[in-house]
Amino acid sequence: MRLLLLLALLGPVSGDGGWDPAGYVLYCPCMGRFGNQADHFLGALAFAKMLNRTMAVPPWIEYRHHRPPYMNLHVPYKEYFKLEPLLEYHRVISLEEFMETLAPLHWPTGKRVAYCFEIAAQRSTDKKTCPMKDGNPFGPFWDQFDVDFNRSELFGGISFGATYKDHWIRRFPASEHPVLALPGAPAQFPVLEEHRPLHKYMVWSDEMVRKGEAYISSLLVRPYVGIHLRVGSDWKNACNMVKDGTAGSQFMASPQCVGYGRNSAVPLTMDMCLPDLKEIKRALKVWVKKVGAKAVFIATDSEPYTTEIQQLFKGEIKVVHLQPDVAQIDLYILGRSDHFIGNCVSSFTAFVKRERDERRRPSSFFGMDHPPQLRDEF
Ligand SMILES: *[C@@H]1O[C@H](CO)[C@@H](O)[C@H](O)[C@H]1NC(C)=O
Ligand SMILES: *[C@@H]1O[C@H](CO)[C@@H](O)[C@H](O)[C@H]1NC(C)=O
Repeated sequence: MRLLLLLALLGPVSGDGGWDPAGYVLYCPCMGRFGNQADHFLGALAFAKMLNRTMAVPPWIEYRHHRPPYMNLHVPYKEYFKLEPLLEYHRVISLEEFMETLAPLHWPTGKRVAYCFEIAAQRSTDKKTCPMKDGNPFGPFWDQFDVDFNRSELFGGISFGATYKDHWIRRFPASEHPVLALPGAPAQFPVLEEHRPLHKYMVWSDEMVRKGEAYISSLLVRPYVGIHLRVGSDWKNACNMVKDGTAGSQFMASPQCVGYGRNSAVPLTMDMCLPDLKEIKRALKVWVKKVGAKAVFIATDSEPYTTEIQQLFKGEIKVVHLQPDVAQIDLYILGRSDHFIGNCVSSFTAFVKRERDERRRPSSFFGMDHPPQLRDEF
C-alpha cells in the first residue's frame, strides 16, 4: 500500500524519464550478424509503433569468437547510431537504460514474463516455456542484464504484420502485459518493403562520422566507387542453393534487387549471389568509367582482390581495402561512396543500399547494373 502510494506520487513528476503506461517491447536481436539485426531492427521498430508501445532498443550482438575477447560483445545502439532521431518516428529507450532505471521498479525480478510462439515453446521440456535463454546468443544476451524469466505467455495463429494489430492489442493489453519480452525480433527477414524507409532514422553517431570521414579524407580520392564483396566460404555454400535452383528468386536479402513481388521478381543469378573475379572486374570497369572514379574502396568478408583490381586499372586508380576493427566503418565508407556496387543477397549490402536510397545516392549490384526501383525510392 505504501509503495503504491509512493508510485502514484512519483508517477506524474518523473516526466520524460517515467514509465510509459502504453507498455514496452523488448527483444533479443538473436538472428544473424549486423546486417540481419539491422533488418530486424526496422521491423521491430514498426511493430512497437503499431502497438503504441515504447521500443527498448537492444544492443547489437557482435560475434567475436576468433579474436579478443573471444565471446559475444553487446554494443550499445548509440555507439554506432544516435538514439534521438528514432524519436521522430516513435518512442524509444535503450534497453540498457530501461534495465537500469525502469526495470528495478516496474519489471522486477520474479515478475518477468516471456512471450513467444507456441511452436517455439514446443522445444521445452514442459512444452510451455519460451526458449528465452537457450544457447548462444540467447543466454548471454539476457545474462548481461541479469534477466531470468519467471513464466511464459504463448501465442499462436498471429504474426507481427499490420493485419494482426488488433489481435495483439486484444490478446496482450498493456494494462495486464506491460512488457512484451520476446526471444527474437518481432519482425520478418528480410525487412518488408514498407519498412525500408525507416532507415532514415538510423543516423550515424558523431564518433562514427568522425572516424569514417577521417578514413575517407586520408585514404580515398573522390570520386570513388565502393564495392562489397561477399565471397567467403560460408557464402559459397549458401549460393549453392542458387546454383542448384533450390533457393528461388527471393533468397535472403535478394528482394532488394529482384523485387518484392512474389510473381514479378526477376531471376536470381549466380553472378548476383556469388560474383566471380570476372564479374567483379566487369562491373568495376563499367562504374569506374561511368563516374570517372579515381579510387575504389573494397569491403570484403574474405578475399579483397586488391592486386587484381589494381592491375585491371593499370595502377591508375587508388585501390583501398581497410579491414577495420568494426564492420560499421566499412558500412559508413560504402554509404558515402560516389557509386556503390553491392551483393544482392547480402543484408550487409542491404544496409548500405537502404541508406543510399534514402539519400538518393546511386547503387547497383554485381550481376545487375540497373536494379529496378523499389517503392520507397520515389
Ligand atoms: C500511445 O501512447 C502514448 C504514451 O503512453 C499515449 O500518450 C497515447 O495516448 C497513446 N496513443 C494511443 C492512440 O493510444
Ligand atoms: C515465479 O515467481 C514466483 C513468485 O516470485 C515464484 O513462486 C515462482 O516459483 C517463479 N517461477 C519461476 C518459473 O521462476
